[in-house]
Amino acid sequence: MPKPQDLKLPFVFAERQAIIFDRLWYVPARVDSPNFSFPGFADTALFGNENPLFIEYCSGNGSWILDKAKRNPTNNYLAVEMCFERARKIWSKIHNMKLTNLVVAWAEGLQLTQKYIPQSCISGIYINFPDPWPKRRHAKYRIINQPFLQEMHRILKPESCITTVTDHEDYSKIMIQEFLSHKGFQSLIEAPYFAEPTPDYGSSFFEELFKSKGKTIRLHSFAKVDQKS
Ligand SMILES: C[S@@+](CC[C@H](N)C(=O)[O-])C[C@H]1O[C@@H](n2cnc3c(N)ncnc32)[C@H](O)[C@@H]1O
Repeated sequence: MPKPQDLKLPFVFAERQAIIFDRLWYVPARVDSPNFSFPGFADTALFGNENPLFIEYCSGNGSWILDKAKRNPTNNYLAVEMCFERARKIWSKIHNMKLTNLVVAWAEGLQLTQKYIPQSCISGIYINFPDPWPKRRHAKYRIINQPFLQEMHRILKPESCITTVTDHEDYSKIMIQEFLSHKGFQSLIEAPYFAEPTPDYGSSFFEELFKSKGKTIRLHSFAKVDQKS
């Protein structure tokens, strides 16, 4: 039963580079990896089949996506988490739960996507409780912005969806604004463009935390459409 601390990279930090091994995909921040080439999701280093692939960005401790992977063995799942402590917790649970359809990417979401994810190959994208960064001077750290949405549009299959969930009313409004101002997405939920998640949506650590504090949870779901000019 591997523990999070058992995850060891096969090189010293100064020689870090992108690598896929043992259900982990590591992409170091701000470092080029000239010797790494993305093998494709159907390669045995990743999933070894062409089943539909779903991505969760900002996975945290992974409880939402671990449960999805367990319940849906004919789908593949990629958890993207940039914090090492959290990514390695997901990695150990993947092994302990013997999941062959889930890989964790220890990586920054936009960087991983821009560098490696091919176009129109993703069947669905989820982001549960992204950090809201409420202060104006921190707004640049929010993951939902136009460059990120452009990448989500590029990698999604036609008519596939991106779903985001938050407890934060202001961030919900900002996300809705970002999606509505992108010409390649259409809300699947009528105005005001959010709804409460249904019980079968699944739950994450932060969802449980916010629900226990009596907070209202907002789910947004936007489908990829042809980009109008
Ligand atoms: C508020 S937590 C939510 C975790 C989980 N989704 C949940 O609902 O319990 C946000 C997570 O997003 C991760 N994160 C923030 N920005 C990211 C980015 N650009 N790429 C990948 N992970 C990111 C953080 O490290 C953190 O673990």
